[in-house]
Amino acid sequence: MSGETVLDLAGVTKVYGEQPPVPALQGVSLSVRRGELVAVVGPSGSGKSTLLHIMGTLERPSGGVVRIGGVDAAGLSDRELSRLRAREIGFVFQQFFLAEHATVRENVADGLLYAGVPAAERYRRADEALDRVGLAGRAGFRPTKLSGGERQRLAIARALVGRPAIVLADEPTGNLDSATGASIMRLIRELNAAGATIIMITHDAALADQLPRRIRVLDGRVVEDTSGTGEVR
Ligand SMILES: Nc1ncnc2c1ncn2[C@@H]1O[C@H](COP(=O)(O)OP(=O)(O)OP(=O)(O)O)[C@@H](O)[C@H]1O
Ligand SMILES: [Mg+2]
Repeated sequence: MSGETVLDLAGVTKVYGEQPPVPALQGVSLSVRRGELVAVVGPSGSGKSTLLHIMGTLERPSGGVVRIGGVDAAGLSDRELSRLRAREIGFVFQQFFLAEHATVRENVADGLLYAGVPAAERYRRADEALDRVGLAGRAGFRPTKLSGGERQRLAIARALVGRPAIVLADEPTGNLDSATGASIMRLIRELNAAGATIIMITHDAALADQLPRRIRVLDGRVVEDTSGTGEVR
């Protein structure tokens, strides 16, 4: 049952800008196997979001290799990458990027636009995902009418609607009261139990300690990785 490698980074670097260049990642190597639930921790500015964006092929690395399901992302065009993302990866961003003029249901359904799913099926699946996160009663609302925790759950519903194999979540329990945060965590664990590979950034040390694997980032490097694989790279 030990899953195959779904995500593999080798010597990944990322430098932003030129004057001066900001080295956001300075040689990150790690692999994640199917079905893992991983916490990424580290201080503000250490490179966590950058790492997540590169894992999800939203950004290309400055150096090193990123493989998704064994495929070298560098060999894929932008169009092939967006197709890969639409099929395999769900994102929960630090900023939610919700379309405020669209309804809650439309925000979720639009997560399927690039997967080429017909409209009726998009809405059916959107309702299913909203039910999953306990927002069925808010489907016709605008996101501006939602509480912070409800917006967070909406962002998760949108990430889930494509039934992605990999969920990348940037602070999914950030800025939430502990009860709402706990309900989001229950949802994340359920998804994981149902087979999704989940990598989540969190500032909550107690929460990270409860997860099966913890990756600590400092100054663009992995300084701790509690994976039980015995793999040293
Ligand atoms: N688009 C960008 N252009 C220039 N510098 C950037 C860009 N994105 C991130 N950086 C820089 O790269 C470094 C890592 O940023 P990153 O967003 O990955 O940190 P983080 O660990 O997610 O922090 P936080 O916990 O505050 O969200 C920071 O110094 C940041 O200022
Ligand atoms: Mg961040």
